[in-house]
Amino acid sequence: MDLAGVHGTSLEPLPLQMGDRAMPHDPATPQDSLAVNSWNEWDPLEEMIVGSADNASFEPTEPGSRPAIRNRPETPFPTGPKSQEAVDLANEELAGLADLLRSQGVTVRRPGPHDFSAPVRTPDFEVENQYCAVCPRDVMITMGNEIIEATMSRRARYFEYQPYRKLVYEYWNSDPRVGWTTAPKPSMADGMYREEFWDWPLEKRHERMHSFEFCVHQDEVVFDAADISRLGRDILVQESMTTNRAGVHWLKRHLEPRGFRVHAVHFPLDFFPSHIDCTFVPVRPGLILTNPDRPLREGEEAMFLRNDWELVDVPEPVLGNHEMPQYCQSSKWLSMNVLSISPTKVVVEEQEKPLQDLMAKLDFEVFTVPFRNVFEYGGSLHCATWDVRRRGTREDYFPDLDYRPLV
Ligand code: ARG
Repeated sequence: MDLAGVHGTSLEPLPLQMGDRAMPHDPATPQDSLAVNSWNEWDPLEEMIVGSADNASFEPTEPGSRPAIRNRPETPFPTGPKSQEAVDLANEELAGLADLLRSQGVTVRRPGPHDFSAPVRTPDFEVENQYCAVCPRDVMITMGNEIIEATMSRRARYFEYQPYRKLVYEYWNSDPRVGWTTAPKPSMADGMYREEFWDWPLEKRHERMHSFEFCVHQDEVVFDAADISRLGRDILVQESMTTNRAGVHWLKRHLEPRGFRVHAVHFPLDFFPSHIDCTFVPVRPGLILTNPDRPLREGEEAMFLRNDWELVDVPEPVLGNHEMPQYCQSSKWLSMNVLSISPTKVVVEEQEKPLQDLMAKLDFEVFTVPFRNVFEYGGSLHCATWDVRRRGTREDYFPDLDYRPLV
């Protein structure tokens, strides 16, 4: 990987008060000067990474993923690079989102080139090709002034941090207060996965819905960044196919000393949970969009209700599950994968009129872009982005909480 140009910063001694890792900033420090600063999903957006479909490949079949063609599950799923046409269509919509954000004063950056058709071989596994850089949200997360690279949960996504490394180096070099952590890489060896998960009939999934055991065992630390949702001091992490309890535990141990509180959340009726942003979507202090098919586990809504948060069910998506693009592995609920530009401005997919109306009724200024061609890459507006800077500080939106830290 070419990192020329990112090593321009001379290694001057760090300012004394900084220590050797970025801690939550001193509230007296002016916000604007921090290169990396984002504490929640809604503060006014200043800098954003928008994904790219360049060189994307089909996700391979592997122990953590069994892709299938929608409505034709018996036909083998394609392998290798996506067609140039599919790449161009997605890129056009991603560019449209980038233009909209720029028109709102946001600095937009894009991932670097990466050959996703290349196979991966480590001491523990081999996989025929990689996936894509359409969904930076799945891999990268900003926790205040720190960038965290997730462990990831699938073999084809093991090296997905690479297209973002040049940007990370740039932020890291430009501001000594920027922290950077890569979470421990799991082996992704056969033994990490519970392959029979894929063959369980629906009744069995229903029976097991409160066990929260999916296709990944609990021995290794596993999480995707998109299972995390940031609400200031409080961080939600969904236990899912892509994030196990060891992953939640690692996040707790990493974030609690930095002043965060980490809450595991569960959606027992989602039998194939992965990534929280089509299920439970905070859009401003006190307001979370909820998925009517995927209620929170009983008892977990208490922290929201006690602190006067409102949970509002989104309307039925415009496309049903059977009408979604044929290679898309996500559900119709990509409809609710909205992106906040600020606590009063939100981007909703162009055809999702019922949700646009709801957001307008909730007093948002609603922006729309077409995004359906991005769906087959596993995400919509929130997934396809990674916010590096939002204007704001860490607030406590949950003053009334029984929280048990690890130590
Ligand atoms: N698994 C989710 C669903 O089908 C899609 C999540 C997409 N989110 C993302 N960050 N890629 O409802």
